[in-house]
Amino acid sequence: MSRATPANATSEAVVDRLYRPLHDLRVSVTDRCNFRCVYCMPKSVFNKDYEFLKRNELLSWDNIVSVVEAVAPLGVRKIRLTGGEPLIRNDLEELIERIARVDGIQDISMTTNAALLTQRRAASLRDAGLKRINVSLDAMDDKTFHAMNDMGVNVSSVLHGIENAVAAGIDNVKVNMVVKKGLNDHSILPMAQHFHGTGQILRFIEFMDVGNSNAWDLTDVVTSAQIAERINESMPIEPAEANYKGEVAKRWRYLDGGGEIGIISSVSEPFCGDCSRARLSATGSIYTCLFASEGHDLRPQLEAKNPEQLKAHIQRIWEIRQDRYSETRTQVVTLRPKVEMSFIGG
Ligand code: GTP
Ligand code: 5AD
Ligand code: SF4
Ligand code: SF4
Repeated sequence: MSRATPANATSEAVVDRLYRPLHDLRVSVTDRCNFRCVYCMPKSVFNKDYEFLKRNELLSWDNIVSVVEAVAPLGVRKIRLTGGEPLIRNDLEELIERIARVDGIQDISMTTNAALLTQRRAASLRDAGLKRINVSLDAMDDKTFHAMNDMGVNVSSVLHGIENAVAAGIDNVKVNMVVKKGLNDHSILPMAQHFHGTGQILRFIEFMDVGNSNAWDLTDVVTSAQIAERINESMPIEPAEANYKGEVAKRWRYLDGGGEIGIISSVSEPFCGDCSRARLSATGSIYTCLFASEGHDLRPQLEAKNPEQLKAHIQRIWEIRQDRYSETRTQVVTLRPKVEMSFIGG
């Protein structure tokens, strides 16, 4: 997807109040998911009475493309499609093709649980221009994975999804494992062993207090230092330099040449200082932090069909931004409602 960046593409690049640029846009295309991960969409809340968005409430592809066109001149280079589970939308390919054509966009990726990633789907996504995916997988054994996804999905479904992606040429695959103490932390080593030497980068994610429903408690968090120590004991690792400023995962390299892992430590070592991500909900609101209570509704600007007005509006939203939730979570009272992770896609 390496399109030429026009000379004027960064001329209006925007920074927030803490001098952080706007570089990534994460686009949620649905709030629905075929999993019920206990840390994200617990069944106690996301059950048959839960009111998911109706089809006519979802932003159209036209509108999503308009937002992408508005943010590219402001500095956005990376677009990540998220959900819920993005593969639930069967016309994603069209969206990917259209985003790939927007001047300035250099990278399109998707965060998915991969269970719906058939050979055919992987091939059509590749044809549309998708080159990389990040796949959620929390264990190597079905018993533990069932306890995490709570829908009886087997590990093999996800591994087949990854195989199908690689076979189709979407071979830049990262694997995300959320670690929750007492539930799946015994899977840290088996996961590391499985992905060691495959070229697929496994990233461990500290369990976070996103949303209001996952009953988060600090005592459930296995810290990044503990994760690194556990791996290092049997598979020695050393720190590696970041690929780019603001990279969410801290990289570690295996000393035996078996590749690398990443650790995302939003709780024990927050990375708000370099946070350059905005999130677009499936209903068309911009969230400037994963832990925000409120979004900024773009629908009036989208309905006005005035691209300059839309761009100016988003620019103002970013210019007044001063979010740094993860750096202050221990100081603030966190009882205020927060947006659900499945609504803005992590
Ligand atoms: P690449 O580095 O581009 O591959 O993607 P990524 O790691 O930014 O995307 P991904 O969706 O795989 O993110 C992994 C996880 O990191 C998310 O699911 C979140 O749990 C966490 N994460 C990503 N961005 C943020 C952020 O801005 N703040 C916090 N606190 N956590 C984040
Ligand atoms: N803590 C950390 N990561 C989470 N994700 C969802 N909920 C949480 C949480 N409470 C991550 C998943 C997936 C992405 C969509 O969000 O691992 O990779
Ligand atoms: Fe679905 Fe991903 Fe949330 Fe799990 S973490 S419920 S797969 S959106
Ligand atoms: Fe960015 Fe908010 Fe995450 Fe901090 S907590 S890194 S400001 S999304």
